[in-house]
Amino acid sequence: MISINSIVAASHHFVRQYFRPGGVGIDATAGNGHDTLFLAELAGEQGLVHAFDIQPVALERTKALLESRGLLGRVRLHLADHVDVAKLVAPPVQAVMFNLGYLPGSNKEVKTAPANTIAALAASLSLLAPGGIISVVTYSGHPGGEEEEKQVSDWVRGLDSRLYTAVRYSLENKPNNPPKLWLIQKSNG
Ligand SMILES: C[S@@+](CC[C@H](N)C(=O)[O-])C[C@H]1O[C@@H](n2cnc3c(N)ncnc32)[C@H](O)[C@@H]1O
Repeated sequence: MISINSIVAASHHFVRQYFRPGGVGIDATAGNGHDTLFLAELAGEQGLVHAFDIQPVALERTKALLESRGLLGRVRLHLADHVDVAKLVAPPVQAVMFNLGYLPGSNKEVKTAPANTIAALAASLSLLAPGGIISVVTYSGHPGGEEEEKQVSDWVRGLDSRLYTAVRYSLENKPNNPPKLWLIQKSNG
């Protein structure tokens, strides 16, 4: 059972429904590696997870976490900007996860940036398999975060409803700018 007041748990809950063993997944913001680990567990022995981050420290933490769980063999680490995701990963991809903002416990100035994030989301969409899903966790509480969340919202709302289902999941009565979850699923048709 998931706690409905955790946005990250909610992202895992929804992604789990569509990312099956043997699938290819992408963690577009590896950070401390928790989403990479989540995807690697689901991917199974035949699956593959691509983890992106622009900070070496993030990939080192991700590598250490996956190694400690014996799952590093299912993961390709990319020290690269997620805007280049379609240059480095071949379609089809069943799940792409974004957890925006900065790396907890690190330099808060190194963070995702609105226009780049939208370009990376568009590139991710081009890789998605029918029925595949993108999850995006946004944070409006840090400088620049509100603008990024707004741009994600505008982009999501502009998607063709015949091709994609777009959903927002938010904590309506929680104070202090709680994060939001956005889900985009490509239709099967
Ligand atoms: C909130 S953290 C991600 C947390 C991570 N999902 C976890 O489970 O620990 C955001 C990460 O995005 C990374 N990042 C920022 N801009 C990026 C970009 N353009 N491409 C790839 N990663 C980026 C940061 O370095 C940071 O590690």
